[in-house]
Amino acid sequence: MAPSTSNPFSEITIKLKHSYTTTQWVGLFFLSLLLGCNSSEDPVSPEEGMNPGDEIVDLEGVALTYRNQCGGCHGQDLGSFVEREWTYGNSLEEVIQSITDGYADNGMPAYGSALGAQEIEDLTNYILTEIDGKTKAMLEAENPDLSGLITSDDLTFRVETLTDDIPGIPWGLEQLPNGEILVTERGGRLFLVGNDKQLTEVTGVPEVASQGQGGLLDVLIHPDFENNAFVYLSYSRVNPSNSSERSTAVARARLQGNNLIDVENIFTALPYLNSGQHFGSRLVFDNNGYLYVSVGDRGYRDVYPQELDNAIGKIHRIQDDGEIPTDNPFYTTPGAVNSIFTYGTRNPQGMSLHPQTGAVWEGEHGPQGGDEINILEAGNNNGWPVISYGINYDGTTFTDLTELNGMEQPVYYWTPSIAPCGMTFVSSDFYGSWRNDLFVGSLKFEYLHRLKMNGNTVVGHETLLDGIGRVRDAQMGTDGYLYVVVEGPGRLIRLVPEQ
Ligand code: HEC
Repeated sequence: MAPSTSNPFSEITIKLKHSYTTTQWVGLFFLSLLLGCNSSEDPVSPEEGMNPGDEIVDLEGVALTYRNQCGGCHGQDLGSFVEREWTYGNSLEEVIQSITDGYADNGMPAYGSALGAQEIEDLTNYILTEIDGKTKAMLEAENPDLSGLITSDDLTFRVETLTDDIPGIPWGLEQLPNGEILVTERGGRLFLVGNDKQLTEVTGVPEVASQGQGGLLDVLIHPDFENNAFVYLSYSRVNPSNSSERSTAVARARLQGNNLIDVENIFTALPYLNSGQHFGSRLVFDNNGYLYVSVGDRGYRDVYPQELDNAIGKIHRIQDDGEIPTDNPFYTTPGAVNSIFTYGTRNPQGMSLHPQTGAVWEGEHGPQGGDEINILEAGNNNGWPVISYGINYDGTTFTDLTELNGMEQPVYYWTPSIAPCGMTFVSSDFYGSWRNDLFVGSLKFEYLHRLKMNGNTVVGHETLLDGIGRVRDAQMGTDGYLYVVVEGPGRLIRLVPEQ
């Protein structure tokens, strides 16, 4: 099945196959700098608009616009607007203003050029009407019934809910050797889900900057956890000398009962920036004990990802104590940040180790289209934002290039976006032919996307658990089961194959 739904932008995505000469591309590059550098954030440029739309209020059309443009971030069920404490007000005028001008620094694009004034007003009426009288509890009651057996292409399974009591937005999960499961909540809390399915809060978590896409993010245990009890947490950390700036950081601690002790920050992606978005932030150990940390571009598309003198828009490789391995690809490169493993990355919210090859695979959000799955190899440039299959949220383009010498092609990309979050290979024997397939959570379409793999090649697709809610993380447990956390309500589930 093709992983796409109708989207007005898919038609104008240009898939260029011809290659550019060096002079051509240098020229294009400087032209793009000239056009794009007046703002360091992902620009929302006014040059090109989408169809202004007609004057007739067509509810179906509005619902579709909402689904394609807004639902990926605000929930397809309008969940983020229900019982909202509005920052900028919820009168017709105030909401229109929010949509028109956006809050680019905080991750809300401006739609004033992409949508016509009438379209924005219709959208506003649609949102305000739809949420009128709704409560979060009502939304939760509308979740699809996933009890009973579920039949997929190659497997029949059922969904077992371990807990639906996780407050806030669950973000990362990791099972301990004794079967208990650590789950992070983006607001800053860490929970232990016991074998009796009870939720216990773990104390001693470092202070996090919970704002925008930031907060307490991924959780991982050390390969030798049974002997050293090391737990790793990625999070957005406040600059100790400027409270308006944050960055992606990694803390290491020991888990003792329900407490973290010996908490120590072992990695900070510098520079700290005044931005609440694109922290990236997945953690994975490879088979040699190196720790990989994914860091997003923080919205500074044209400033950091292609330069090696900073840690932003990169995947880093460090030792389990934060020391830098001397065989890192840029270890001896003058001026380079020596933890960099790969660069040219936008917002990598998925990372998983291939069960057969041991390679680290990464999944990242494209802007509008162009979500990617990449295999990471030392020193690679994954191309963001010089090459991309995506376009700006307002429908304008920032590059015409999808390929260039010296920049890697993704193993797979999605246009339109599914907004991929956590991902994992199925590495156990429990799931028959799912073994070695890649499972990617979709925030936007609220399902689990199965990429059927043959080695490193995607050979098929299947969507599972359609409508379950925004899928934040998918991980193999130490017990061989596939676990997933979703929001609305915060749930930890496992997929249990029929025996
Ligand atoms: C890429 C993610 C993203 C997309 C796409 C997006 N938003 Fe937002 N939106 C946000 C974020 C993040 C905020 C919070 C900004 C802040 O607090 O400053 C926000 C804030 C808002 C607000 C103000 C809410 C308040 O509390 O006052 C409105 C209204 C809004 N969005 C409507 C929309 C509509 C309508 C669309 C689609 C046309 C849309 N958004 C698309 C991320 C997004």
